[in-house]
Amino acid sequence: MQDEKKLRSQQWFGGDDKMGFVHRSWMRNQGYPDDLFRGRPVIGICNTWSELTPCNGHLREFAEIVKKGVLEAGGFPLEFPVMSLGETIMRPTTMLFRNLASMDVEESIRANPLDGIVLLTGCDKTTPSTVMGACSVDLPTIIVPGGPMLNGKYRGSEVGSGSFNWMIKEKQKTGVMTTADITEMEACVARSAGHCNTMGTASTMATMVEALGLTLPGASAIPAVDARKKTMAWLSGRRIVEMVKADLTLSKILTRQAFENAIVVNAAVGGSTNLIIHLLAIAGRIGVDLTLEDFDKIGSKIPLLVNLTPSGKYLMEDYYYAGGLPVVLKELKELLHAHAITANGKTIGENCDAAECFNREVIFTLAEPVKPEAGIAVLKGNLCENGAVIKPSAATPQLMKHRGIAVVFETMEDYHARIDDPTLDIDENSVIVLKGVGPKGYPGMPEVGNVDLPEKLILKGVKDMVRISDGRMSGTAYGTVVLHVSPESAIGGTLALVENGDFIELDVEARRLHLDVSEEILRQRKAAWQPPEPLATRGYVRLYIDHVEQADKGADLDVLVGKSGSEVARDLH
Ligand code: FES
Repeated sequence: MQDEKKLRSQQWFGGDDKMGFVHRSWMRNQGYPDDLFRGRPVIGICNTWSELTPCNGHLREFAEIVKKGVLEAGGFPLEFPVMSLGETIMRPTTMLFRNLASMDVEESIRANPLDGIVLLTGCDKTTPSTVMGACSVDLPTIIVPGGPMLNGKYRGSEVGSGSFNWMIKEKQKTGVMTTADITEMEACVARSAGHCNTMGTASTMATMVEALGLTLPGASAIPAVDARKKTMAWLSGRRIVEMVKADLTLSKILTRQAFENAIVVNAAVGGSTNLIIHLLAIAGRIGVDLTLEDFDKIGSKIPLLVNLTPSGKYLMEDYYYAGGLPVVLKELKELLHAHAITANGKTIGENCDAAECFNREVIFTLAEPVKPEAGIAVLKGNLCENGAVIKPSAATPQLMKHRGIAVVFETMEDYHARIDDPTLDIDENSVIVLKGVGPKGYPGMPEVGNVDLPEKLILKGVKDMVRISDGRMSGTAYGTVVLHVSPESAIGGTLALVENGDFIELDVEARRLHLDVSEEILRQRKAAWQPPEPLATRGYVRLYIDHVEQADKGADLDVLVGKSGSEVARDLH
């Protein structure tokens, strides 16, 4: 147990000198009694609430609930805001700001008199950004995932937020839905507080932190508006005080085994490809050696156990009622490091022992899974020397081995300008190649890898084509989409050298992505290649372009990898 006199916060609040007075006195203008400053664990509630992050719009209320638990357990809760990243609003992409938000979290924790942290998260990047920042400080930390929205309901049918977006162009172009229908759908699909209700990136991130052991058991799938989510927040408030007393820091939970568990679980739930980039970045912060290859080695043969959109049929509300992640963990137990410790002080194996499945249509068994193999495949080849990824469970089986002619778009703007041109030389066997959407090139590596198909092919009934880019894909999306090509085109990776008419070979089974152009011609093209002009010359974006690492390393800033720790050598003075 941590000696209360050694609480970090006492460096600020424990003194009887001038600085002790200064640290306490101004805080007391908020009405705190003197005893709160005297040896109680101070718990920072790191809130990503923002009206511009609609998925996190309920977290203000949740902070108040967490505070009740903290106070009840003898702690002193202090809420603080951090940069919040609203996926559907921010331009050019929230991923550009993930590392900035993580810096905000790291420095807000380090600079303040905090002993333990509760991270309130929800929308996609609000989870990895806060976890990355907290890892670089490494205090006891627990996460309260904000929870998914209720199932979307549209004219008697269920509809998933996020995944419907990818059908809009097809439904409009084929006349299946009118503009009025789409407007009606807007409200039907997002009908309660919470994040996307599919197994998109937000649900994947919530699943990831539970699988890593950073939440109370069962926290991730509870819908945002279910009263049990409030209970979870309350209990998390109580628990973080105990974690401080036990000095259960992040690095004690985030072992290599915990990361391996998260990779296995992500495969079994059909989670987003975005997990790769965020988990690599988190591992880099906490100091665990994790590589892109680990995702294939550990996860690619894991069966798909849940029947959730976008890999399957159901939505997060159904998943929670079926038993949620504890049931999946119990099914996977023999494939997990069951002894990995979690935030409640018990092992992940102990936490799922009593789990029971209430709907086998939603959560399948290991013996009879939805699909025998579901993890993410890591491709290698001359088109992606450092790797690329594909999510086989969201791809078309017939396209997993494919040779086709490249149709190249140099930038996202070039794609928009030409994709629906009736004279564009493209058919369903072509391979769409999109450049300039990597970490440095866009900048920020947006979720555009699953670009819409050309209108003329949609009207022909084509549903999927091979698409290759250095960008990412939304966790709610699907298709035979090769992503995260590294090195990216903006720094002269082979992707930059692809020209219209080149043949490209994709063979997912063999883990191969090959540009069928001779080395001599590639050398000539490389010699003639000119790097694009950087899109920013100042400010954070310039800093980002100069320091961001490639996708296969997690796209963190090189100067942010690792920890600063919680010690701050110099006082306020
Ligand atoms: Fe926020 Fe999907 S847009 S979680």
